Amino acid sequence: MNSTKFTYPFAHSIHFLHSSDIRDLMKYAIRPGFISFAGGMPNNHLFPVDEVEKIYHHLPRSEKEVSFQYGPTKGYPPLIDVLKKYMQSKGIDFTQHELLITTGSLQAIYIVSHLFADPGDTILTENPSFIGSLTLFKSFKSHLHGIPMDSNGICIDALKKTYKRVTRQGEKVKFLYIIPNFHNPAGLIYSRERRRSILDFIREHKLVLLEDDPYNELWFDPADRPLTEPILSMAPKELKRQIIYVGSFSKILGPGFRLGWMVVPKEVFTKAEILKQSLDACSPNLSQVIANAFLREGYLEPYLERIRPEYRLRRDITLRAIEKYFPPEVKYVRPKGGFYVWLELPRGADAQKVLDYALENNVVFVLGKSFDPARRSPTRFRLAYSNVDPQNIEVGIRIIGEGIRKVLSRSKND
Ligand SMILES: Cc1ncc(COP(=O)(O)O)c(C=O)c1O
Repeated sequence: MNSTKFTYPFAHSIHFLHSSDIRDLMKYAIRPGFISFAGGMPNNHLFPVDEVEKIYHHLPRSEKEVSFQYGPTKGYPPLIDVLKKYMQSKGIDFTQHELLITTGSLQAIYIVSHLFADPGDTILTENPSFIGSLTLFKSFKSHLHGIPMDSNGICIDALKKTYKRVTRQGEKVKFLYIIPNFHNPAGLIYSRERRRSILDFIREHKLVLLEDDPYNELWFDPADRPLTEPILSMAPKELKRQIIYVGSFSKILGPGFRLGWMVVPKEVFTKAEILKQSLDACSPNLSQVIANAFLREGYLEPYLERIRPEYRLRRDITLRAIEKYFPPEVKYVRPKGGFYVWLELPRGADAQKVLDYALENNVVFVLGKSFDPARRSPTRFRLAYSNVDPQNIEVGIRIIGEGIRKVLSRSKND
């Protein structure tokens, strides 16, 4: 009898997977009495529940039946049509691109990684960047280089230097991944000039750009709306085929629908579609039928008009409380939209100690290292104000402010 113990034959790449810090912190977020700035999620009380109820109630029986069935891999045809029109309203044309519906935008990012990145290939990201994408890229055994950002977006000089250094070392850079609008976690929006510099960069190095844009609609001031124009729209004709644009219903309908989409160059589309076929055959048809009616029957714009002031209100309360309770040495960029404020403590201060203090006092947020491909950034942290009740925001920020003052006075005395 063979006496060696059974072990599971895990694939090598599985060792690169680790649980997201945010998911781990969620155990605090759901405890009664906890104030959570941790989850980057829409507000539970702001979902279009009544609209969706009405939509489903009024659907013809035949459409309800379709919604329970499998659908085409590329998406429910009426939704593809209505989404194309929606994208066209943002200046995206479909002469060189096709639209593929995905199961959340995370699946679109997965498809792009799968299509382009062999193990050991390099992906350039911002630092900080969206934790879900970083985890996903790591699962493909990609080399990640996080490029610093300033208040206008990714730093172009640092991007050029990193590109030069890593390609000289023989690394194969497969694509650049950025989040230009109301960045998660940095809270900022790219200036037009920075967007143009990105286009120059991908032109010079013949690089693919993955433009991830789930927060596009969540601007707070109509004057800022033009700033949200997708880079794909701005790109001259000859550069468009280097850009893949990813959108999501998670912030404009609800993440529970698990619906996103990708605008893919035609030469890439069939491969992306076949890959998706092997992943899940099709995205949830029930979600797609409802999302289609939501757009087609004109529910989106009034819904956005209802939620933008709610998120703006939470942003305003957050910033007022930061001004009141945080020492002036704490730096941040004022968000013009979206869900997040990204903060930086003075050099030498440890955000982990602030989090420890906050947790002891029933408040939770996420440390900067979670968003750094190299897991450094000890002085930074993210506050997501989107799913906190307005009356709790000030209480939570007062407690974090106490933690910061304690940590700063200790580091001065050390
Ligand atoms: C920048 C960014 N990209 C993608 C996603 C994933 O969204 P989805 O729910 O569409 O998969 C998120 C979710 O928070 C995000 O912040």
